[in-house]
Amino acid sequence: MKVNGTHYRSLWWDNDQSVLMIIDQRWLPHEFRIQPVETLEDYAAAIVEMRVRGAPLIGATAAYGMALAAQKDPSDEGLQQAWTLLNATRPTAINLRWALDRCLAALTPLPVADRAAAALQLAHDIADEDVEINRRIGEHGLTLIRDIASRKPAGEPVRLLTHCNAGWIATVDWGTATSPMYQAHDAGIPLHVWVDETRPRNQGALTSWELGSHGIAHSYITDNAGGHLMQHGQVDLVITGTDRTTRCGDVCNKIGTYLKALAAHDNGVPFYVALPSPTIDWTVSDGVAEIPIEDRAEREVSHVQGLLDDGTIGVTQVSPTGTACGNPAFDVTPSRLVTGLITERGICAASEDGLAQLFPDLAAR
Ligand code: MRU
Repeated sequence: MKVNGTHYRSLWWDNDQSVLMIIDQRWLPHEFRIQPVETLEDYAAAIVEMRVRGAPLIGATAAYGMALAAQKDPSDEGLQQAWTLLNATRPTAINLRWALDRCLAALTPLPVADRAAAALQLAHDIADEDVEINRRIGEHGLTLIRDIASRKPAGEPVRLLTHCNAGWIATVDWGTATSPMYQAHDAGIPLHVWVDETRPRNQGALTSWELGSHGIAHSYITDNAGGHLMQHGQVDLVITGTDRTTRCGDVCNKIGTYLKALAAHDNGVPFYVALPSPTIDWTVSDGVAEIPIEDRAEREVSHVQGLLDDGTIGVTQVSPTGTACGNPAFDVTPSRLVTGLITERGICAASEDGLAQLFPDLAAR
């Protein structure tokens, strides 16, 4: 998508320098910083520190990490070591493991001399596929928004709510939850998006930055405001992303998503999840019991980062000194609270049957 009139992907390969370039998301929305990722350790740190973040983007980054590993040490041991290092970076988003497994499975049967070139091409393919998947999610999600718009008086906006950042910078391009919004806006449908702040890392600020850059009307709201807005008929549709969806349709996404689903259910507001197929974990059925939830640093809760009055970015403490903080980074929304899943192949029920009907080739494996 565009930043100040220039089209960017959230990562790209610099052919001249033979290096991956990323947008360092720790400084957004206040500063747009681009940086290279040069060593395998740097790849791992970029994912751990959330310089890159969002399930699909983590997967694509890891694929480029495997390409670097294949360049430095293409032996079976070298590739396995890289797999282990990168797989340990973040536990919840399944796209990471999906990309690493795909790379390992494609590379190890090849002669060692062919692996570096094949790994780089595979990383490019994974990135390009992500863009196409998200574009298609947008096309399918657009039908939901169009349908709501058709039942409103002309010119009245469709009011959406989203949580976290499932935008283009959480993917390679388009985003998952935002792709229907971008496509609806481009189709001339008036929108207004309620953007949850998403403490503690405030990914809502990233979503607001994205939507603002695309000209989509939105309001940045506190994480606790959504239920009130739904009670007062201010939300027509909720769309969130997902970091891992079980074969039965349970959805694991950023902490707080579950509460939004409960409020949506109580108020009869449709709650959809934008789901690229690499985010389905076909090995898992019960999301609450089986999906590992990342526990992040206390400091992310006790302190906040923001723009200071002098225009610099600073950090300040909000909790009393010495107070223990808890920071579970994701939660699971059971499938019974999910109205539907918006995938690249269409919209389906959040259920084993629904997913299997759209993805018979993947479900059967
Ligand atoms: O901790 P983050 O910022 O990586 O979490 C991101 C999310 O929870 C997104 O909603 C999810 O990855 C879907 S991104 C298309």
